[in-house]
Order: sequence, then C-alpha cells, then structure tokens
Amino acid sequence: MRVSVFSTKSYEREFLEGANHGRHELVFLEARLEPSTAVLAQGSDAVCIFVNDIVDRAVLETLTELGVGVIALRCSGYNNVDVGTASQRELTVVNVPAYSPHAVAEHTLALLLTLNRKIHRAWNRVREGNFALDGLLGYDLQGRTAGVVGTGAIGGVTARTFSCLGMRVLGHDPSPDPELEPDVLEYVELDALFAEADIISLHCPLTDGTRHLIDSETLGLMKHGATLLNTGRGALIDTPAVIDALKTGQLGGLGIDVYEEEASLFFEDRSEQILLDDTFARLLTFPNVVVTAHQGFFTTDAMETIARTTMENLSLIEGGEAAQNRVAWTDDSADSAPSG
Ligand code: NAI
Repeated sequence: MRVSVFSTKSYEREFLEGANHGRHELVFLEARLEPSTAVLAQGSDAVCIFVNDIVDRAVLETLTELGVGVIALRCSGYNNVDVGTASQRELTVVNVPAYSPHAVAEHTLALLLTLNRKIHRAWNRVREGNFALDGLLGYDLQGRTAGVVGTGAIGGVTARTFSCLGMRVLGHDPSPDPELEPDVLEYVELDALFAEADIISLHCPLTDGTRHLIDSETLGLMKHGATLLNTGRGALIDTPAVIDALKTGQLGGLGIDVYEEEASLFFEDRSEQILLDDTFARLLTFPNVVVTAHQGFFTTDAMETIARTTMENLSLIEGGEAAQNRVAWTDDSADSAPSG
C-alpha cells in the first residue's frame, strides 16, 4: 500500500520504517493534513495522520477524489476526524487504541509531582545558587483525594497509580470498569468528584459532550485550591475560565500536556518566534502552572507499539481482513466531528 504519512517528525520515521519491514511504500511528509495540503496524498491508497491533522468534510472530499480509501491514525483519539462523513464515503478509519496507557499515566504523575513539589522552580533556583526553600512547600499526596474523569485505559492506570500512593480515588465514567471498584476507586457523580477531590485528572475523550467540561461553573464546584491535570485533549477545559480561577486561587495548580489551540503551537521549535497566543502566554506566567507540549505518549515503548500497530492495521486492510482497530461510526464519534 502507498501511504502518505502526514506531520512526520524525524524521531517518528525510524520507528515507522522499523515496523514496516518493507510492506508498504511510506511517503513521509512534514505538512499537517488539512484542506490545503490534502492534495499531497495524490497517488496514495492511505493517509497516516497524527493528533493535530484535520480530516474534515473538505479533506474527505479531496481524499475521495484522489482515490484514498484509508485513514490510519497513529494515535488513539480521533476527535480530529469526521468519522461520520468518512463512513458515508466508505473510507476506512483505523487507530491505535491502547498503545501504552502507562506512558500517559506516568506523565500525568510527573505533572502532579512537579507541581506539588515545585520541581520546575527548584531546578532553576539550584542552578542559580539559590538554595532557599521559601515558596517550595508541597503536601503529602498520601491521604489526599484524587478524582479521575474517564477511567478507560489511561484513566484506569492513573487511578491505580494514585491508589498506590495512598490516595483515596474517586472515578467518574459513563461506563464504569468493574475491575477498578472497590479496590482502586469509588465511582461517584461528576459533581461529587469535583466537590471532594484535591486533584482532578482528565482522561475522557473529547466530544461535544465533554468540550469545556471544565468551565467557570464546574471550576466553582471544586475545592478551593484544587489541582487540575489534563493529559486528555485541550478543549476539555475552557482555558480563559481556568486562568480566572488561577488568578483568584480557586484553582491551586494546573498541569497540562494538551491545549485547545495547540495545533498552531505544538510539535515545532518556535523559540525564535513571537508568541502570538495571548491566552497561552498568560498561562505561562503562573508559577503554579506546568505545561508540556503533548508529550505524554512519547516513550520508546509507546512509539514502538504505535508504529507496529499502524503497520499491522494497514496490512490487515490491504489483505482484505477487517482491521481490528477500525473506528466505528457511533453517535459519539459523530458528535466529535471537527468543524475545521
Ligand atoms: P479509553 O477509550 O480507553 O478511555 C476513555 C474513557 O472515557 C472510557 O472509559 C469512556 O467511557 C470514558 N468517557 C467517555 N465519555 C466520558 C464522560 N463524559 N465523562 C467521563 N468519562 C467519559 O481512552 P484512553 O486510551 O484512556 O485515552 C483517553 C484520552 O487520552 C484519549 O481520548 C485522548 O484524548 C487522550 N490521550 C492523550 C495522549 C497524550 O499524549 N497526552 C495520548 C493518548 C491519548
């Protein structure tokens, strides 16, 4: 199969080539897939895309005209693909559902530990010969309450991790996992989770139903000084509302690996450019905010699994077998169709 691999970074290439074993002709493109670049898929049977590529109706129209029949996501979330239209046009959409929930769960823990023990500030201080402890006071996680929103693959591992640290864990999920309750967590309604948790961690998919799940109203339900972690998708939180809550102290800390407008920022070196996103710039001014640029998935283990599963997905489709990781069109995926 000839595959146009969009948004390719040099560090991904070796994993994809390593897992391919010459089965498919991979055409590596640095460009992000969007309406203006979709034509680059000319001559390919499939496109392979990542989190910030856009497959909306316009892109699907071009892909159909070009005879591209497969969209292979090398990630789990597919909120950036209009799955409903793809299905109508008989394009096959496949993803990598659970490549390493540990990678993202461990990154979530890293954000929490960094925020709580002020490692980001301490590291800078020590390098400058400032060994004072003022302002670095943290708290024991043991005995605190964590709230995990979305207890699927990543949320489940995160909940287990929090539990191992001696935290009380509350979970919320429309499809509770019976293996987690009661040993790891207790399922509660979302309002109760917000009201009781000292730390809230988001691991649900982005859909119309979860967009801006964290807004001024839900922030108001939280304990004063709660810590919010988001390694799910940026648009789960309304960033201006979160900034307001940080200003008043209602939110005591924010650790994010994703940002609603990340598509125009992340995965590139922009250190020589003027930062034009004022909301993002404001976030960076808070001492109690830690931002990483969507690197939760970025471990060798996860990269190997992503590459291997992506190549297997393509081979199964080429062999006429129903790909096990086919993204089915459901009401929920229809909800999450990208608007542009
Ligand atoms: P998953 O599908 O295993 O789990 C998602 C869970 O969220 C499911 O149990 C589902 O029932 C639940 N859910 C759905 N709607 C909900 C709602 N309204 N409230 C609470 N829970 C709800 O997915 P997985 O693999 O755990 O990934 C979760 C999310 O993490 C992905 O959708 C993706 O956005 C994000 N992600 C981020 C990465 C990163 O590098 N930062 C890497 C991989 C995924």
